[in-house]
Amino acid sequence: MDCPTLKWGIIGTGQISTAFVTDLVLPRDDKNANHVVQAIGSSSKEKADEFVKKVAPESTATTYGAYDSVYADPAVDIVYIGTPHAFHKEACLAAIAQGKHVLCEKPFTLNRREAVEVFDAARKKGVFVMEALWTRFMPLCQELQKAVHEDKVIGEVNRVFCDFGLHMDLETLPRSSRLKNVALGGGSLLDIGIYSLTWGLLLLDNGIGETAATPQVFSAQSISQKIDIASSMILHYPQTGRQGILTSSMQIKTDPVFARIEGSKGVITIEGPATSVPKKFTVIPRGEDAEKKEYDFSRPGYGFYWEADAVAHDIAAKKTESSRMPWAETLRVMELMDGVRERGGARFPQDDSI
Ligand SMILES: NC(=O)c1ccc[n+]([C@@H]2O[C@H](COP(=O)([O-])OP(=O)(O)OC[C@H]3O[C@@H](n4cnc5c(N)ncnc54)[C@H](OP(=O)(O)O)[C@@H]3O)[C@@H](O)[C@H]2O)c1
Repeated sequence: MDCPTLKWGIIGTGQISTAFVTDLVLPRDDKNANHVVQAIGSSSKEKADEFVKKVAPESTATTYGAYDSVYADPAVDIVYIGTPHAFHKEACLAAIAQGKHVLCEKPFTLNRREAVEVFDAARKKGVFVMEALWTRFMPLCQELQKAVHEDKVIGEVNRVFCDFGLHMDLETLPRSSRLKNVALGGGSLLDIGIYSLTWGLLLLDNGIGETAATPQVFSAQSISQKIDIASSMILHYPQTGRQGILTSSMQIKTDPVFARIEGSKGVITIEGPATSVPKKFTVIPRGEDAEKKEYDFSRPGYGFYWEADAVAHDIAAKKTESSRMPWAETLRVMELMDGVRERGGARFPQDDSI
């Protein structure tokens, strides 16, 4: 289908749902899917009404003061889950049980075991489910992978450095904040370290999910009040000798240039306002006379429309998973992060529940 239509039910009216829906309704010249904001589910109907007024005033979205009403709404095709990590599994299972497709924010769940549960349910129902790792769907990311792995513009990759740090001022955040509350999945690794890890995985090896090479992982976490305020991972690929140095911190904001890829014939840097939001990459070939080349991908909006468009096309093609973010890739990343937390000490109460 050239321009499929998808009717979205939104769960949660926080920061990320606001950004996602803003992008869904953004006028675009290159639009290749129609996104309808069909329903909003919130802890209160007033909040849902406010959200529509602020974010999608032109829409005729139905507003609900309960998430279950969104899952049960026959007009909704797909549920977008924008609640804290700890509630992702429960929301995914409830939406799938009603036969809805699901796009769930990252991290998909708190641990691999929860993700398996959701994918098993999706398989049984035959619905589309994807982790909303939006950065993977950005044209910059796809062009960069091609430049590195196919065109080999910097020769053979040796090392990738990537950091995602934000100053989160944990002292002043309320205890209920999802960023610091361990029961809500607080900590840096699942919130932002997942992006550093993603860049490392995408740039050190061209495989995905089951076709990806398996790195050795060394890691450390700094724990404060039960959450990781900093996590560092070294990925080592024994077959190629490649290394990734991938980090996250809640204490200090990363510089705009957040990643560096070193190869046998040069270096590539990636920059943007955040590690999840790349805007530009620069190829710096080795040699004094060699000229730098910048690839600028800046454009209006945040960039959530690319993943939304891809989801619309996959669903129109009757797929149950995405080839850019397949279930096996989500499980692989969850397993890597489980290992980092196991070694580093950032455990969630849900890790121990059966
Ligand atoms: N892709 C990205 O770049 C990106 C960026 C930020 C966050 N995220 C992900 O999106 C998810 C939500 O993050 P956020 O920053 O949007 O969070 P947030 O601003 O705190 O909003 C979360 C929303 O979830 C609902 N909620 C339900 N139970 C809650 C509880 N016990 N505590 C707090 N909120 C609760 C609330 O909506 P109602 O009251 O309306 O029900 C709340 O507004 C996280 O998993 C995060 O990792 C992704």
